[in-house]
Amino acid sequence: MELPRGMKDFETEELSGIELVRERFVQTARLFAFQLMEPSPIESLSTLEAKSGPAIRKEIYHFRDKGDRDVALRFDFTVGLARYVSSRQSLRLPAKLGSFGGVFRYDEPQKGRYRFFHQWNVEIFGRPGIESEAEIIEFASRLYGSLGLDGVSIHISHRRLAESFIRNSYPHAGQGMQGEVFADSLRLVDKAAKKSLGDLLKEYGHLPGEFVRGLLDFASIRGTPEEVEARIDTGTLDSWDYLVELWDSLQNRSVKNILIDFGVVRGLDYYSGTVFEAFDEKSKFGALAGGGRYDSLMGAFGRPEMGAAGMAGGVERTLLAMGERAADGRGAAPDVFVLYANGQMQRHAARLASQLRARGVPVGIDLAGRQLKKQIESASGARLVIIVGQRELAEGKVVLRNMADGTESQVGIDGLLDDPSGLL
Ligand code: HAM
Repeated sequence: MELPRGMKDFETEELSGIELVRERFVQTARLFAFQLMEPSPIESLSTLEAKSGPAIRKEIYHFRDKGDRDVALRFDFTVGLARYVSSRQSLRLPAKLGSFGGVFRYDEPQKGRYRFFHQWNVEIFGRPGIESEAEIIEFASRLYGSLGLDGVSIHISHRRLAESFIRNSYPHAGQGMQGEVFADSLRLVDKAAKKSLGDLLKEYGHLPGEFVRGLLDFASIRGTPEEVEARIDTGTLDSWDYLVELWDSLQNRSVKNILIDFGVVRGLDYYSGTVFEAFDEKSKFGALAGGGRYDSLMGAFGRPEMGAAGMAGGVERTLLAMGERAADGRGAAPDVFVLYANGQMQRHAARLASQLRARGVPVGIDLAGRQLKKQIESASGARLVIIVGQRELAEGKVVLRNMADGTESQVGIDGLLDDPSGLL
């Protein structure tokens, strides 16, 4: 009865962490006026292939359904949301949409990389430009702040910076720069920070060595606009002014945890402009989030004029970065237990537990009819226990025991139900 490779069960602690991130995501989405929706979990295979072509098949789950349709499980929310928005002619623009949920990828499983995982995701459709991109980056910055992740920095760049650098520096510029060489050069920039120089020189042996070294040097440029300008003549690069304007807009919004990073180009095929990735300085499991402008995907869905930008973050990776902080206790056993002194009292205890729950007090109760001693043992981690005993019940009371110091007092049931705040 083994699970398929790459699949896992989400146990209480991890699931409560996911719920915590979901909660903060929903709060932050409300602050930034994103409307929540969830695109379909299953798409036509052709929709997921719209931009990347059949090459995407090796990275996703796809199959033929019982009606002989080629379908696939969503690998992100961006494609589904873009499909949805592009087919709604009457949708008021800009549309700011947010989603949270599970996505599937046929990735090679390892720590921080799974075949089913959760993403938070925001997109802005129909308002191309710096302000939407700044809003998305500010959103991510605030979300990580609300999760106590102060070590997160968001690295920003623009696809055209790298593209113009590649064109300017390839010895036979113009020849072969449309196809594979160009795509390989971008991939090399993407991998620069993840692999060693030796490995990359070997892997990209078909490219001139000097060109590879130049690209790796380019990919290592990062810092404030002034720091970048001290390292490279930005006048030769496309879209530098745009990136500086984005930087200024983020300063204006007091988003401080940003960094220009020429090594960010993004792997997914659909990006066309600004690109960004969020990293936690202490985490070893790759980017926490990524995104950018992807006007060309809207073009592939027949709405080239619309424009779109967005960002998504991996929830499980966020929890790894949060470590201990992800355990906020919501998965823990209840703080209060209702116990019964004997079998006859079990019904009364069950009724009291039910009444307390109806008033919003989380309580536990033994379902097995065990003896009081056993019940107390099971509730040893609780803060308070309420003991329902015959004598006290006859007077409309119960015993309240503080488990930390063992002190006991009698309290009236009506009073407890009128104001249960002392139990919370
Ligand atoms: P992505 O970079 O493919 O972008 O994924 C976003 C985040 O999901 C990553 O930064 C990482 O934290 C997490 N992630 C990706 N793959 C895995 C995996 N196999 N296991 C665990 N976590 C993973 C997108 O998905 C784009 N849709 C982002 C976007 C939104 N672009 C525009 N709008």
